[in-house]
Amino acid sequence: MTFQAALKNTANEIEVMLDELLSVETSLAPRVTEAMRYSALAQGKRLRPFFVSESARILGADHQQALRVGAALECIHCYSLVHDDLPAMDDDDLRRGKPTCHIAYDEATAILAGDGLLTVAFEIIADPATHADGSVRAELTLELARSAGHNGMVGGQMLDLAAEQKHSHDLDEIIAIQSLKTGELFRFSLEGGAILAQAGSEDRAAMRTFADRVGLAFQIADDILDIESSPEQLGKATQKDAEAGKATFIDLFGLDGAKQKARALADEACDLLAPYGDKAETLRDAARFIVERKN
Ligand code: IPE
Ligand code: IPE
Ligand code: MG
Ligand code: MG
Ligand code: MG
Repeated sequence: MTFQAALKNTANEIEVMLDELLSVETSLAPRVTEAMRYSALAQGKRLRPFFVSESARILGADHQQALRVGAALECIHCYSLVHDDLPAMDDDDLRRGKPTCHIAYDEATAILAGDGLLTVAFEIIADPATHADGSVRAELTLELARSAGHNGMVGGQMLDLAAEQKHSHDLDEIIAIQSLKTGELFRFSLEGGAILAQAGSEDRAAMRTFADRVGLAFQIADDILDIESSPEQLGKATQKDAEAGKATFIDLFGLDGAKQKARALADEACDLLAPYGDKAETLRDAARFIVERKN
């Protein structure tokens, strides 16, 4: 199966699962559930669930269980987007081609929808349907909390906002911000499949290192698209990062330098998959897609 077909398949499966997991019929507070659905079921690429599913496939874990881990991670990702778009953060009106959650609803509802998506992720992971073995569920919970929390994505978002106040940023600072705010959820996506497969430390380390390169390449590509793409193509505002003073690779290396850096990271990521041979070809295609993508 080609990468694009595999990604589409995962996206469809994740959307069916999220539709069931975020049911309005059983909701005690339909407005917040509707806002959660509004953001989580909007058109996203579903790359993080795709990575969970691929790492699970390569290492021999069950596909349905991988989808549950992917759905949980997608909820965390969607919560991060809802909060990232709030006026107190990046203050954006457009996300995934639609008005952002706080525009479609209101700020309080968007904050609560983000909270709801964050929390439901752990409900999904902790449910015995995710894995029969409680120690596997505990490990997934621990790693997801680490990757999403104050020493992970949340920490990266804090550093990203703090960096707006500075006039210049050095390479170590930019790498630290991007590895946390974006890399950590990719790290969990690849390691989540390995945990489900109860893989050994070598496989886990290989997946983690691959994710590290891919996560960084992904954020560099996002920062390039902010300059080169349009709201029509991207489904979110563009031309915002420079004015906001965001810490990006483009700041340091220029557009061409940043593109080279992203490609080099993707090549490195592909090389790291050598031990998995042909089985990892879709994952290599995903790494290449991340830097060549147009949305
Ligand atoms: C956007 O992520 C946020 C970043 C980490 C740059 P995606 O580009 O994966 O967003 P969706 O899920 O496809 O909307
Ligand atoms: C966001 O980075 C990373 C998150 C943790 C949400 P950006 O602020 O660049 O993401 P976009 O461009 O709004 O999607
Ligand atoms: Mg941001
Ligand atoms: Mg943003
Ligand atoms: Mg961006």
